[in-house]
Amino acid sequence: MKKEKTDVQKIVIDSGEAFNKLKECKLVLTDDNLYPLYKDKLPECFVIPAGEKSKTLDSAKEILNEMAYRGIKRSDCVGAFGGGVVGDLLGFAASIYMRGIRWINVPTSLLAMADSSIGGKTAVNLGDIKNAIGTFHLSETYIETSFLDTLPEAEYESGMGEIIKTSCLDPTLFDMMQAGADIKQLISRCVTIKNNICDNDFMDKGVRRCLNIGHTVGHAIELVTGLKHGVCVTIGLKLETLMMRERISEPFFYELQVRLSRFIKDVDFPDVEKITEIAMHDKKNDSCIDVIFPVDVGKYEEVTLSKEEFAQRLKNI
Ligand SMILES: NC(=O)c1ccc[n+]([C@@H]2O[C@H](COP(=O)([O-])OP(=O)(O)OC[C@H]3O[C@@H](n4cnc5c(N)ncnc54)[C@H](O)[C@@H]3O)[C@@H](O)[C@H]2O)c1
Repeated sequence: MKKEKTDVQKIVIDSGEAFNKLKECKLVLTDDNLYPLYKDKLPECFVIPAGEKSKTLDSAKEILNEMAYRGIKRSDCVGAFGGGVVGDLLGFAASIYMRGIRWINVPTSLLAMADSSIGGKTAVNLGDIKNAIGTFHLSETYIETSFLDTLPEAEYESGMGEIIKTSCLDPTLFDMMQAGADIKQLISRCVTIKNNICDNDFMDKGVRRCLNIGHTVGHAIELVTGLKHGVCVTIGLKLETLMMRERISEPFFYELQVRLSRFIKDVDFPDVEKITEIAMHDKKNDSCIDVIFPVDVGKYEEVTLSKEEFAQRLKNI
């Protein structure tokens, strides 16, 4: 049976309500970087180690056990206070606990504000396979841009990776970045763009796939190098546009390379064989490798490459 999006996602920016909303939750998940910084304002939290290593089925099971232990009912609500890892994990647990309960997402990283807290995708990793297990379950999202004041610079740069990605899909955002719009304006535009795309294709069968530009190579780089997600998206965008260069408009290509180069620092050229092998096994690919890449501002293409052609194009860069 085809599942359709029936709800509109509630997304609020800088309303000052985030902590009060979390106080309504029967369980709030955060990580051990954030908890010491915000514990005076947060309710008692369930705290996980920070970072991608926590995005596992084992962590989800611990959270589900805690929900059951606290006697959380179908009508109750749970909350996430953190970056994309905390949001993806808590959202996943909320989506399967009693077949789905309400959840509030308070994103604290730039990446989570501009991207991962929108559109209802939840996930945990399965060994080496990123986001292999997941669901679609919308949160109510309360963005407070003041949380960026404590975000480390490297995480900020990672978030910029997803913003640059989104700007390739939208001429308005592309121009806003050129004109030096402030971060709150950029986040707000990213939220509008992603929300519109997800409204039109909640289950990721069509147009939503455009959000995967830079991700075929980016996910593989993330696995090989352990670099941050958004940084790998910038590297993925760079390599995919170089691989497919003959299909890409020249002015767009040059402007994009300039923007990306500000955020890509001292990265060794990746091992082509390893990247190809991982891209083959990425959940989005079968026997061939699908690459979705931008060709001009607001335009993208999807190609299916054989393993050999993918590797050859990567080698030819
Ligand atoms: N669901 C989606 O649609 C979607 C989209 C894109 C990415 N993602 C996922 O998001 C994850 C990456 O998210 P992320 O970059 O936010 O990673 P993250 O959640 O690991 O956060 C990055 C680091 O920043 C710290 N941090 C976050 N906010 C802070 C703040 N305000 N002050 C101080 N420290 C802060 C965290 O403790 C963590 O150490 C990946 O797992 C990726 O797969 C999901």
